[in-house]
Amino acid sequence: MRSRTRAEEFSAGHLRGPGGRWPVRFRVVRDFGWRKARVESREALGIHRREILGLPEQVEAAFTTGATLANFTAMAAARHRLLARAGWDVGAQGLYGAPEIEVFVSEESHPTVRKGLGLLGLGRDRVRELPTDSNGRVLASGLPHFGAQSLVCVQAGNVNSGGFDPFPELVAACRDTGAWLHVDGAFGLWALASRSKKSLARGIEVWAALRSLGREGVESMIDRCCRYAEEFADGLREGGYEILNEVELNQVVVSFGDDVVNSAIIAAVQGDGVCWCGPTLWRGRSAMRISVSCWATVGDDVRRSLASILECARRVCQRRI
Ligand SMILES: Cc1ncc(COP(=O)(O)O)c(C=O)c1O
Repeated sequence: MRSRTRAEEFSAGHLRGPGGRWPVRFRVVRDFGWRKARVESREALGIHRREILGLPEQVEAAFTTGATLANFTAMAAARHRLLARAGWDVGAQGLYGAPEIEVFVSEESHPTVRKGLGLLGLGRDRVRELPTDSNGRVLASGLPHFGAQSLVCVQAGNVNSGGFDPFPELVAACRDTGAWLHVDGAFGLWALASRSKKSLARGIEVWAALRSLGREGVESMIDRCCRYAEEFADGLREGGYEILNEVELNQVVVSFGDDVVNSAIIAAVQGDGVCWCGPTLWRGRSAMRISVSCWATVGDDVRRSLASILECARRVCQRRI
């Protein structure tokens, strides 16, 4: 969607899942003055503009092939704009001798953010990390001073815990100085479609929905995925296993024991074929990650999956006694 006005610098990431298997992914950005690169595909979006999306008029939406490229694209826009502000045309002049962009990333940012920064010549390691709390959320207290040439990369929905960064504080800190705030909303921005989860993403002004489901359909899907995640967490806790994250959204990080036990159980779960869960490392601990993110998942899938996981865990633990 085309901006009518030049909005403050603010980009939101992209929407991936819950609904991860849907054929569309999109990101929203506010006016970033970089329209040539925009892939505008209103037909493909298959969405009434503001009516279904509920997007403010100044928001633009575009497709990318996935969240990695959405991060890259939005950060490229940020680089272009921040340098243009300093009188530097990065397309024409390149990066050698360019004014410096100070990049801040959450210490819990998804690896694709640093990957994108590397590809953009901003450097994977040339960043300042923002510390996070136990659920992987950037600490709102003691945010550093951002400047007019700062790019601040945070996220709506930590890939492991589902944790949301503190947007009201981040937005205020960036707005004060004109810093560019990039939000990786790979799956977390979907919280905005749910009245019960919306507050997690407060500060980010965006709504999303697909024509096929409509706003209420999306809302009930998001709520369902989040409820199922809680069911997984409750069932696993009852089975005596440790849930390492606060279940804020649709993600559960569970540990069954040490790395060897976790790996064996994950292999058994994958072999059982009822559901698929992968390994992860959460705050230094090995674990299994459950991400409830498909529109087609129903309560019976959750019950069968939970039973399969518990049975696999029981078998593996018994073998080790
Ligand atoms: C927060 C976050 N950012 C980026 C990505 C990368 O997404 P994709 O695999 O669509 O490129 C993911 C993937 O899970 C993610 O959770």
